[in-house]
Amino acid sequence: KEIVLSGIRATGNLHLGNYYGALNKFVKMQDDYDCLYFIADLHALTTNPDPKALHENVHNILAEYLAAGVDPDKATIFVQSDVPEISEMYLLLNMHVGIGELMRTASFKDKARKQLGISDDSQDIEKQIIGADTNKRVNAGLLTYPTLMAVDILIQKAHKVPVGKDQEQHLELTRRFARRFNSFYGVDLFPEPENFNFGDHAVKVPGLDGSGKMGKSEGNCIYLVDDEKVLRKKVMRAKTDEGPKEPNSPVSEPVENLFTLLELTSGPEIVQQYRDAYADCSIRYGDLKKQLAEDILKVTTPIRERYNEIRADEAYIAKVVKQGAERARERASKTLSEVREAMGIIRFK
Ligand code: TYM
Repeated sequence: KEIVLSGIRATGNLHLGNYYGALNKFVKMQDDYDCLYFIADLHALTTNPDPKALHENVHNILAEYLAAGVDPDKATIFVQSDVPEISEMYLLLNMHVGIGELMRTASFKDKARKQLGISDDSQDIEKQIIGADTNKRVNAGLLTYPTLMAVDILIQKAHKVPVGKDQEQHLELTRRFARRFNSFYGVDLFPEPENFNFGDHAVKVPGLDGSGKMGKSEGNCIYLVDDEKVLRKKVMRAKTDEGPKEPNSPVSEPVENLFTLLELTSGPEIVQQYRDAYADCSIRYGDLKKQLAEDILKVTTPIRERYNEIRADEAYIAKVVKQGAERARERASKTLSEVREAMGIIRFK
């Protein structure tokens, strides 16, 4: 069986972007592949979270994995920091990663810009980083985020990595690091991992505020655990436009976003109905939103109900991750030994 690995950062409850970009695929893949799914708590440290909140978030997301249907008898579920081999290999792999290529990563530039309070895209971000006051620093962990992510994947020798579109640049780097390591040491340790999607393209879930992406830092999320009232309110408030002025007008971005969400939750036939209604100017956004809210609730309600139950059962969650860590460490420690040996870090017997 091919190996599948993916993780989600422990930064808060999961939203529809996480669900359609990742979690939904986790559940669907677990019958056919050898799957490992984890909570990226070390990655969450890059933004210096409150320690108590960090642990809560790990706990919450584990409960969300289980509530959504990830089955610990089929897939390995673990917490990143429970596998110390990852941290050691992260140090080793960093010796083959260029700071230039890390600095050019889109997510790094975005986050560094936010941390330094620079809004302007045209400013020379590299100079600003180097010149930044030490109390406004951009931390080195943020820079080496892609190395750590590559190690998560490579240490398990994963073939498939189900993620949303926003993570594809990180996957591209992972493949490059894998090739580089293999060829530098003349070994064949790492396969080159690929994204996995059920359709023909990577998933990007838009926000309800007209923006291109649903995300925690964008503040435009529908959470899996939102209760019915909150969820309906969010959907009914979604941004639209004034409606098509004449037949066959081009669809504006906020409405296109609603179509994208509807496609994910309700399927292509329903979207086509609304596209036709848009084209002949008979569309009623109120109806579209009601349908969307209904169909999102069909997905989230059972998850929310199970979540509340599982979240309360700490002993069960502890058992799942303990067993998961043991399984994840098996392959991780084997790979780490191979990496050390390839690099000449060899213990005296
Ligand atoms: P994170 O925690 O930001 O997001 C978790 C997953 O959710 C997907 N996602 C989306 N997909 C579609 N549309 C959206 N609006 C949307 N928002 C989030 C992300 O693509 C991701 O799949 N670096 C990773 C965590 C990670 C990881 C790994 C993933 C660490 N190591 C190894 C895979 C393999 C991250 O920050 O995801």
